[in-house]
Amino acid sequence: MAQLVYVYKQFERFWHWSQAVLILFLALTGFEVHGSIYLFGFEKAVIYHRYAAWLLLGLIVFSIFWHITTGEWRQYRPQLSKLQAQLRYYTYGMFKGEPHPTHKTLRNKLNPLQALTYLGFKLLMAPLLVSTGLLYMFHRSIDANDMVLISEIPLEWVAWLHTLGAYLLLMFVIIHVYMTTTGATPLANIKAMLTGYEELEEDKSE
Ligand code: HEM
Ligand code: HEM
Repeated sequence: MAQLVYVYKQFERFWHWSQAVLILFLALTGFEVHGSIYLFGFEKAVIYHRYAAWLLLGLIVFSIFWHITTGEWRQYRPQLSKLQAQLRYYTYGMFKGEPHPTHKTLRNKLNPLQALTYLGFKLLMAPLLVSTGLLYMFHRSIDANDMVLISEIPLEWVAWLHTLGAYLLLMFVIIHVYMTTTGATPLANIKAMLTGYEELEEDKSE
């Protein structure tokens, strides 16, 4: 029997949507710095990008703390055994109207493919952008004498890796938004991420 379950806690929703807004803003200002688009003007884009980056860093610190203290990090452990069934569903079964191969529950709310892509975001894309972003920011620093080179890595490499991270993240967002429409109904998952509640089949073990 389906019942309304509180799946996404308040902090989780706040974290998700503020992170999404910040990242989209960082993408806009970043690609203006890069020279791909014109929106705020180069100087303003640089400043806005830096402010948004500090906000994102603060949010990341809080979210790491939250994931550890609540034990929610366990949601991201991908069950590799079920990955194949999940891939088959997204490429074939879904279009034939077959049922979801994995069961969404409170304790196991991400399917194996979601867990893997979110893990990729958290362990690869976000660290790449944050580390190259910080290297970019502190590449040179002014001390009492003059400009001091902090990192030996050439700035062009840092900028290239940072831009690569930005492209990967944009790809993630496009695939991610599409995948979130493949729930019970196209808007079911998005509604759940907004309100916290979602209709789930009863789970006997909970
Ligand atoms: C904590 C996270 C981040 C930090 C510390 C950071 C820092 C920086 C810095 C210092 C620059 C050079 C311009 C400037 O001096 O302000 C830059 C450029 C850029 N950033 Fe970020 N950034 C971060 C996140 C992001 C994100 C999430 C995206 C995109 C989704 C992004 C996309 C870009 C792009 C495309 C450029 C232009 C690169 C170039 O062509 O030189 N950044 N970032
Ligand atoms: C811009 C960058 C974004 C990032 C980095 C991001 C990241 C994530 C992550 C890590 C999760 C897993 C959360 C959890 O632990 O429960 C998640 C879930 C979710 N996201 Fe995003 N997200 C972004 C943008 C969006 C946008 C624009 C939408 C919708 C329009 C969206 C809709 C959802 C939904 C519905 C979920 C719930 C779980 C699911 O159905 O997979 N996200 N997102």
